[in-house]
Amino acid sequence: MVNSFGTRVSPLSVPERLLLGPGPSNSHPLVLKALSNQPVGHLDPYYIDLMAEVQGLLRHVWQTDNRLTLPMSGTGSAAMEATIANIVEPGDTVLVAIKGYFGNRLADMASRYQANVKKIERSWGQVFSIEELKEALEKYRPTVLALVHAETSTGVCQPMEAIGDLCRKYDCLLILDTVTSLGSVPVHLDNWKVDLAYSCSQKGLSCPPGLGPFTMNKRAEEKLNKRKGKVPNWYLDVSLLNQYWGSDRVYHHTAPVNMNFGIRESLRLIIEEGLENSWKRHSENANYLWDGLENIGLQLHVDKNYRLPTLSTVKIPEGVDGKAFSMHLLNNYGVEIGGGLGELAGKVWRIGLMGYNSQKNNVDRILNLFDTELSKFKS
Ligand SMILES: Cc1ncc(COP(=O)(O)O)c(C=O)c1O
Repeated sequence: MVNSFGTRVSPLSVPERLLLGPGPSNSHPLVLKALSNQPVGHLDPYYIDLMAEVQGLLRHVWQTDNRLTLPMSGTGSAAMEATIANIVEPGDTVLVAIKGYFGNRLADMASRYQANVKKIERSWGQVFSIEELKEALEKYRPTVLALVHAETSTGVCQPMEAIGDLCRKYDCLLILDTVTSLGSVPVHLDNWKVDLAYSCSQKGLSCPPGLGPFTMNKRAEEKLNKRKGKVPNWYLDVSLLNQYWGSDRVYHHTAPVNMNFGIRESLRLIIEEGLENSWKRHSENANYLWDGLENIGLQLHVDKNYRLPTLSTVKIPEGVDGKAFSMHLLNNYGVEIGGGLGELAGKVWRIGLMGYNSQKNNVDRILNLFDTELSKFKS
């Protein structure tokens, strides 16, 4: 084929990669098969039934009964923005507990929606204690507390027990980022008393990027219904979206139907495996990775009690050019691992074992590469 510039455009040929970085992760082959179907209309009765199935399946993986549960058309950041856009009114005090890159993004978004943003911070690799959160709630009396469950930038999993109760005591709504935990790390939204949460399709759900699951409970709905003005973001306005995802089925935007085929298949696969079995698989493979890395003399950045099974941060040994090593793995072996962000730039590698990629043979592959290749990068 010759394009208008007179050059030949070759057919798409995507290199094969094993994605063991912070995401996206490789998609399950059955998800890819689901995506390759011809689209149907976004108001086709078949699709309407599928939408309800996706909502039910999302409620299950999140362990919630929330009526307003749907995948936003967009990536995790769109769903993140949906929580803020719908719940924050100008002047609301929003407390953001920041212990990594994505906490900062939440604070930035809240400020764009004219919140009075208050921050508490922990160094990258630490978690918040319940006492620290209590002190901040007492001090700032926020309308909303936002925090990240699974910090992809640090490899930390925030313990969630008692935080929801504390928020209820201080009459504050709780937003939780479950982008790197949904489907792969225990998440109990209702038991934890989380009011709004969001996630993505491309990590624990073994789908390509493109959907951002979103959920809000009745407490959050009440605040939304009492808003003085319109939600200042048309595309992410849940009250409009609910006319399509709820019983009215009124057109809002042309849904990415194939992505919803894909997520339905990925959620079905989690049910087939069993949600708890999926959590167990991720935990076992992560522990296997951590032991293997330590056996070859590497150190993990996060205390074992708070490590995230889906994303491990490994300290780059003194004298090693971390970026050169990860490029070597990508260029010569087709294996992707991530580098550090922010405070951890140049200090750690980030190894992801998410969804379909959380498999023992993948752990063996990456351990073997560290074992045989890393010495070439030591001065
Ligand atoms: C914890 C966390 N929150 C939010 C996001 C943003 O999601 P996305 O990149 O899909 O927009 C990410 C992306 O990796 C993430 O790891």
